[in-house]
Parts: sequence; C-alpha cells; structure tokens
Amino acid sequence: MKRTWLLGTGSYAPSYTLTNEDLEEMVDTSDEWISTRTGIKRRHISKGESCSDLALEASQKALDQAGIEPGEIDVIIVATLTPDTIFPATACWIQKKLEIQDCLSFDISAACSGFLYGLFLADNFLKQGEFHTALVVGSEVLSNFVNWEDRNTCVLFGDGAGAAILRSHHGSEGGNILSKEIGTDVAGIDLLKIPGGGSRMPFSQEVLDKKLHTIHMKGNEVFKNATRTMVLAIENALKKACLSVEDIQWYIPHQANLRIINYVGKKLGIPQKKVIINLQEYGNTSAASIPIALDESLRENTIRKGDRVCLFSFGAGFTYGSIILEV
Ligand code: UT7
Repeated sequence: MKRTWLLGTGSYAPSYTLTNEDLEEMVDTSDEWISTRTGIKRRHISKGESCSDLALEASQKALDQAGIEPGEIDVIIVATLTPDTIFPATACWIQKKLEIQDCLSFDISAACSGFLYGLFLADNFLKQGEFHTALVVGSEVLSNFVNWEDRNTCVLFGDGAGAAILRSHHGSEGGNILSKEIGTDVAGIDLLKIPGGGSRMPFSQEVLDKKLHTIHMKGNEVFKNATRTMVLAIENALKKACLSVEDIQWYIPHQANLRIINYVGKKLGIPQKKVIINLQEYGNTSAASIPIALDESLRENTIRKGDRVCLFSFGAGFTYGSIILEV
C-alpha cells in the first residue's frame, strides 16, 4: 500500500511585530476589542521580505528536518494570495532560490484553505506514483494588501510561511494522509476579496485612491459561514477515515478567530486541550497559518510520531477543507 509521509516541516515569520497597542495608535481600536473579538495579540510584519523570501526560510528548515537535498524534490506547490509576482508563480521563484534544476512548480490560489488544497494535490500526486517527494508551502505577505486605515480588517492579518516535505513510501508502517475532505462553496464569493488590481478591475488611480487593491471583508457574514462549513468538513473527513472525534490526538484549525475555533470545537465535542492555537502571536496568516502551527507543535514535541492530526480551514471563495494525517 502506498502512503504519504510527512518527512519534515519548517516555518518562518518576519522578526518585526505589531502589537494591539501599536494598532491603538493607528486606528480607532483597542487591545480589549481585538483580544475579546479575535484572540489576537500581535502579528509579524514583513519589512521588505517577499512571499518567496519567507517561503524559502520555511522550506530550508523543512529540508533540514527531513534530511534531504533540494534536488530530491520533484514537485513544489505554493499556496498564496500574495505572490511575489502575478507570474511567474512564487513556486518558480522558490525553485530558482533552491537551485533545483527541474521539477513541477506551481501556485494555487485557495485563500486560507490553500495549504490544505496543496496537501490534497501532493497526496494525490504521490499516491499516483509519478512523483516521489513534494514540497508544499503556505506563504503570505498580507501586510502589503491590508488597508491600514480600515480597523475592520487591519487588526486581523499577519505575515509568515510554513512548509512541509512529503514523500511517498510503500508498506503498512509509518505516517500517512488518512483522509481528505475539500471543496468550495461560492455562495459567499463577494464577502471576502481583493476587488481591484486584477483583470476585472485593472490597476488605476481610482483603484489606488479607493484602496480597492486591499482586503475587503464582511466579517460577521464570513464568521457564520466559517463555523458551519468547518464543522461539516471535519465530520466528513472523520467519516472518510472511519474515525471518531476521540480518535484524533490533535486538531489544527486555520487561525482566523478564537471564537470561531471555540465554536467549532464545542459543536463537535473536541476538548479544548486538543486544539492547537497560536493566533495570539501571528494573527491570521491565511495559507500560512496551518503549516506554521503544525511545524511549531511538532518542534515543541506537542505532536508526536504516530499521533493523528486533523487540520481544518475556511477561506475566501469560500474554500474549505479538512485533512487527517498520521505523523
Ligand atoms: O481567514 C478567512 C476567514 N476569515 C474569517 O474567518 C474572519 C471571520 N470574521 C471574524 O473573525 C469577525 O467577524 C471579526 C473579528 C472580523 C469581527 O468581529 P464581529 O464580532 O463579527 O464584529 P462586527 O464586524 O459585527 O463589528 C461589531 C462592531 C462594529 O461596530 P458597530 O457597527 O456595532 O458600532 C464595528 O464597526 O465592532 C466594530 N469594529 C471594531 N471596533 C474596534 C470592527 N472592527 C473593530 C476594531 N476595533 N478593530
């Protein structure tokens, strides 16, 4: 039987941090509002580092942990909303920086579910047999796409990257991706978006003046959809793996809002101590949030070899996913 093994992980965030107190000086907000409504305390902000710069740092750590050379990678998938360039793909820039002669490199745009979409594709590629080793990265420089005058959004987001090396192997022993539930519900397509700067509304003075190149979100509508959809995604992923809530040692949610995470946990009867949360430190880093939390909890030995981990996410589109893996 073919299995997909998580061989190594890595993560990276820029050193500069912006606290809730810093934001009090910038917009009409308070630490109290941000903390109670979201759980976020600070976020890391890039000072000139691009998406591929962050991704490279995370990838190198993942390669070190996996104990493999860049040349052994035969597919690079980067999940991002904030690529270095519209084209070529950020995955191509990373391939260049890692000095990999030839491999399949491409980006996916699936917002906050991007890393799970990446894992989904990598698992299918590896189990299909054509590829042996995959690098999947979630990397974001959201601070370049935030309207720093809009208190509804600017307090929420941060920058960072997380990476995972996956390898196919035969046999009944060792780690594996056990089940995947993934999809998109376009009912809320307009509720979370960057409206300007694309081919529908190309860059213009008006786009810049109205800040249409920044994140626009109807937060409370997104909130309602996120809770409902993630509960369903987890239930379906568990069903596909023939597992129950109790069979999972750790849950890693997309780190958007503590209240959303608590709601999902309560609805499914997941004990709070099984849920990995780091949003107080990073804010919402979109596609990077799950791989950063995964990497941190593996390095801290919170998650141990043999544990079953359930990842779940929700993002613009609305994209959603839940993936269960044994590490
Ligand atoms: O990552 C992809 C998925 N994204 C998400 O899952 C995000 C989902 N949404 C959320 O996390 C929450 O909806 C937010 C944290 C964005 C907002 O929390 P909320 O409890 O839904 O607040 P709200 O948008 O309903 O706004 C409540 C009030 C409003 O004032 P009024 O109209 O009641 O007077 C806002 O203007 O809070 C006000 N407000 C703020 N006040 C202080 C909004 N942002 C702020 C702020 N500081 N930063």
